[in-house]
Amino acid sequence: MTSSPDTQPLPAQRITGKARLAGVLGWPVGHSRSPLLHNYWLRRYGVDGAYVPLPVRPEAFETAVRGLQAAGFSGANVTVPHKEAAFRLADVLDESARATGSVNTLIFQDDGTIRGLSTDGDGFVASLRAAGVDLPAVSDATTGRRVLLLGAGGAARSVAVSLAAAGMEVCVTNRTRARADELAASLPGLSVCPWEEWEDRLGDYALLVNTTSLGMEGGPEPGFCPALERASAGLVVADIVYVPRVTPLMAEAQRRGLRTVGGLGMLLHQARLGFHAWFGVEPQVDAQTEAYVLASFSS
Ligand code: ATR
Repeated sequence: MTSSPDTQPLPAQRITGKARLAGVLGWPVGHSRSPLLHNYWLRRYGVDGAYVPLPVRPEAFETAVRGLQAAGFSGANVTVPHKEAAFRLADVLDESARATGSVNTLIFQDDGTIRGLSTDGDGFVASLRAAGVDLPAVSDATTGRRVLLLGAGGAARSVAVSLAAAGMEVCVTNRTRARADELAASLPGLSVCPWEEWEDRLGDYALLVNTTSLGMEGGPEPGFCPALERASAGLVVADIVYVPRVTPLMAEAQRRGLRTVGGLGMLLHQARLGFHAWFGVEPQVDAQTEAYVLASFSS
């Protein structure tokens, strides 16, 4: 931690006639922290640019993207419910976009083509590494490189792809078994654990990742807090939920002396590639960035 990161004054935002432009397409989009984060970085690095929320209904998605491109935007982030539509629209896809079938970052290229990236999973892995969790070396003799993923939605898919690429062996468990089977069938090397059994099998894993909405403020079953008594001593517990900052699952893990990683880092790290591509500066995710975004949760 640097000293008092939130007390350092930021320069005013610079938006001239040559400003570079980007935004986030979603429906709804009002909850997104991306405008706050990107405009913070724009100010911090003195970039001539702006990043705006773009509320776009599903049926208008393609029209909106073509319009942004025609208006000279550098690109956009894409959030719920447009990630699959963005995948279909992009002309060039990076490997993680192909593996996940979804795109969260669009880059409008000089030749008129649109490049699509999926940065959520790599953002998650980067946040683990930034928190000092060394992949795949987190494993030990009992657990090997095994990860247990709770959930089988879009977030689980992104995280699974990136964890596998980082050398981990991924097992997925989900309330609705068919979705876990479907995910495992579409990604090489994934296995499935029955939802009723994962707590009993926890000792086999080096890393537990919650990708469900369980534990999220306003989410299902607010008290969700599984028993972690079968965990190995070295288990790392990660949650992609970032409100609250310490979820009930993380609190229980901490009570047992286990290392935990919250979801805020994933939110910050997934944004870096897009910012770099649109604005030409590689932004840092540091204590100052974290403090700035965190301050917005209480306002
Ligand atoms: P995302 O794309 O953000 O991952 P999603 O596709 O809606 O969102 O997936 C949400 C995940 O949370 C799913 O794995 C879901 O389990 P089901 O497939 O059984 O619906 C999980 N989830 C949501 N509410 C849950 C609950 N009350 N108990 C267990 N899992 C739950």
